[in-house]
This record gives sequence, C-alpha cells and structure tokens, in this order.
Amino acid sequence: MNVAVTQQGYTAFEPRPLSPTIGAELIGIDLARDLSDAEINEVRRALLEFKVVFFRDQSITRAQHIAFARRFGALEIHPATPADQEDREVLRIAHGPNSRGVENNWHSDVTWRETPSLGSILRAIELPEVGGDTLFSDMYAAFEGLSPEMKRFVTGLTAVHDIARVFAGRLKKSAEDLHARFPPMEHPVIRTHPETGRPLIYVNTGFTTHIKGLSRKESDWVLEHLYAQAAIPEYQCRFRWAPGSIAFWDNRACQHYAASDYFPAVRVMERVTIAGDKPFYRA
Ligand code: SIN
Repeated sequence: MNVAVTQQGYTAFEPRPLSPTIGAELIGIDLARDLSDAEINEVRRALLEFKVVFFRDQSITRAQHIAFARRFGALEIHPATPADQEDREVLRIAHGPNSRGVENNWHSDVTWRETPSLGSILRAIELPEVGGDTLFSDMYAAFEGLSPEMKRFVTGLTAVHDIARVFAGRLKKSAEDLHARFPPMEHPVIRTHPETGRPLIYVNTGFTTHIKGLSRKESDWVLEHLYAQAAIPEYQCRFRWAPGSIAFWDNRACQHYAASDYFPAVRVMERVTIAGDKPFYRA
C-alpha cells in the first residue's frame, strides 16, 4: 500500500479526521492482509491520536476480525456471549423487530471489570437502510472543558461501577449472581490514560452507580454534571455505518452511544474487545 506520508507521519494509511477533536477514517489499509508490526503500530498510534478510528469497505471474516484484534492485546470474553457460541471472543449485538437497540446511552465498555477494556473493534454485519449511527465523545476534551475548580474537586474522587446496572436485566440474572463473578469495582473519577498520560473523565451513565464519600444527592449531582459532558456536540463525532465498515475505539479515552432510531429494522454488529489495565490517576 503506497500512501504518501501525511502531516502526522503515517505511511500505512491516510487519516481523514471526522471532527477537530475525535475520530478519523484510515484510508487505504486493507485489514484482510497480514499486516506488518509497523502497520499495526501505526494503527495503534492513530487510535491514541484520534481516540476512535474507522475503516471502510473491508471484507474480512470473523476469524480475521479476531486475529486483527489480537494484534493489540489479549481478548476478553463478555458474560453476555452464549456459552455454546463458537468464537467466544465475539460479542454479537443484534436488534430487529423483536428487540429495540438498547446501547443508546453514553458509556465506555465493561468499566465494571477490575481491568476494563483497552479498546473495542466493531464490525458491521447487517445494517438498516438508514439510522443506527454510533456517536463517540472525547473524554479528554470533556475534562479539559471543566472549570479549574470543578477539575480540582473531581480529581482524586473514586466511583463505583456495577455490571448489574445494565446486565441484570439483559441477562435476567440477579445482582447477587452477577456480583459473585464481577463484584462492583472502584475506579478513579478522573483517570490518567496509561499511554498518553493525559487526564480524562472516567464515569459513565451505563455502569457508574455512585461516587464514594459523597451523599447520594451530591453524588448524583456531580455524576449528572460529568455525564452531561459526553453529550456536548463539540466533543463528538458521529459515524454512519455502511457495509464493510469497522470502528476501533479506545475505551480509555472516549465514550460511545449507539443511536437506537432504526426499529423495527435489523442491525447486527460483532464486537471484539481487547483487555486493558487497572485505571489509575497520576498527577
Ligand atoms: C456498543 O455499545 O459496544 C455497541 C455500539 C454499537 O452498536 O454501535
């Protein structure tokens, strides 16, 4: 693949930003090829720079999807993946006439884990004619946009994340059952990205239950304010899916929201999620 060196110094593809702060399509890379370590390193660098990267017109199999994800680290198995499914690293997200899309809340994947995921790679399998876009929001920019006093107040706080908030209903399991395997986890409200060293907001509407040490009312108020930052359009990009589209986002740097506007049309996606490390804050 011969792509001129861009101003960011990429040679394996040309990054085309979707917005000034987040998201870029990587043009000219074929994920069906056996990519070199140098090419994978460039994708990783682009992920750190743009927080979410997109690939168009890709023709890859499920096995190639898994193999590509494995180049970035160990893979997770999600508890929502059926035990008898082949390729258990794949989480199938399917909606249609019998199930409306439910991923329409701002979240970062699996923050209820002790070591939440580094990133997720989502591949379009079947799409509605229109609708079903995914929105992404830059959590560095969201932190940057807080007032200095608010930054000081929330930095150093700890929040609790609970799988049961979403998955008790979806998996029809009690919170106690889920907690036996995945107890509620504490993570810093403001996290330092382990690779870029930048601070970012690390609470989300999906999984965060409360902030430790505050009254419930105070915690709700602070969380509502932090959640509201993800919804600010200036921190966002929006991706319109097409057959062959793939998105790869950094769960440590951004949140996402899958628009649930296509019911009763069918939308089927497959996600492979790369394991991450324990969140920390370092001044
Ligand atoms: C997810 O929340 O991981 C799925 C996002 C999507 O289906 O667009």
